[in-house]
Amino acid sequence: MSKSAFKPGNMLYPLPAVMVSCQYKDGADPECKNPALQGKPNIITVAWAGTVCTNPPMLSISVRPERYSYHMIEQSGEFVVNLTTEALVLATDYCGVRSGRDVDKFKEMHLTPLPSREVFVPGIAESPVNIECRVRKILPLGSHNLILADVVAVTIDYAYMDESGKFHLNDTGLVTYSHGEYFLLGKKLGSFGYSVAKKTAKPAGKSANQGKKGIASSGRTTNRGKKSAKITNKKGNATRR
Ligand SMILES: Cc1cc2nc3c(=O)[nH]c(=O)nc-3n(C[C@H](O)[C@H](O)[C@H](O)COP(=O)(O)O)c2cc1C
Repeated sequence: MSKSAFKPGNMLYPLPAVMVSCQYKDGADPECKNPALQGKPNIITVAWAGTVCTNPPMLSISVRPERYSYHMIEQSGEFVVNLTTEALVLATDYCGVRSGRDVDKFKEMHLTPLPSREVFVPGIAESPVNIECRVRKILPLGSHNLILADVVAVTIDYAYMDESGKFHLNDTGLVTYSHGEYFLLGKKLGSFGYSVAKKTAKPAGKSANQGKKGIASSGRTTNRGKKSAKITNKKGNATRR
């Protein structure tokens, strides 16, 4: 095995690439010079994001203070993390290379603001999971400020719930970001604890349905195809770790 030293830097991948929606409270927007954008919600793509605590549910995003969105989040103390999918990957990239100072990203990407339950900032209706957050602490680190936030509500797309009420997040076509590139979540290799489970796990294989649009990759019957609706769990937590 031949290894090479590499400069210390950001090499922790893959990461989520989430679309974070934000908005100035009370329409207050001291920076906005374009009346058409005044008071509008904005979206910033963030990859430096992670779950940081199970109970209370908390997450973090790291944002450069020079971003237009940073000021919105700092001023309002609220934001929504919207998970991204294959269908949203172009919008994800766009929201990460254009500024809300210049464009209305919701409008340009044909995205629909989704009223939130616990925060005034809207989520993105086209995302399968909207995580409403309230800022707890901001920690300046250097290039980025770490924004620690409480998860105050979670909204999921009913289309991915099965008859027993299980939410099939991994059937939504989630996207991941690695070393400058976007990927569709790949083949399932196991599930939590399978290495010590009594029953031997079946080897991971590609099901006939995998990859086909509109059909759950697990082959399970879900509500997909039914009219999309959203379900909200205040302080919801899908899995325990
Ligand atoms: C895949 C991807 C990931 C990004 N991750 C971050 C991040 O974690 N933090 C950050 O401050 N900017 C990040 N950016 C850059 C911002 O999304 C970008 O500067 C955006 O245009 C800021 O929008 P705004 O000016 O409307 O706030 C990322 C961009 C892309 C494309």
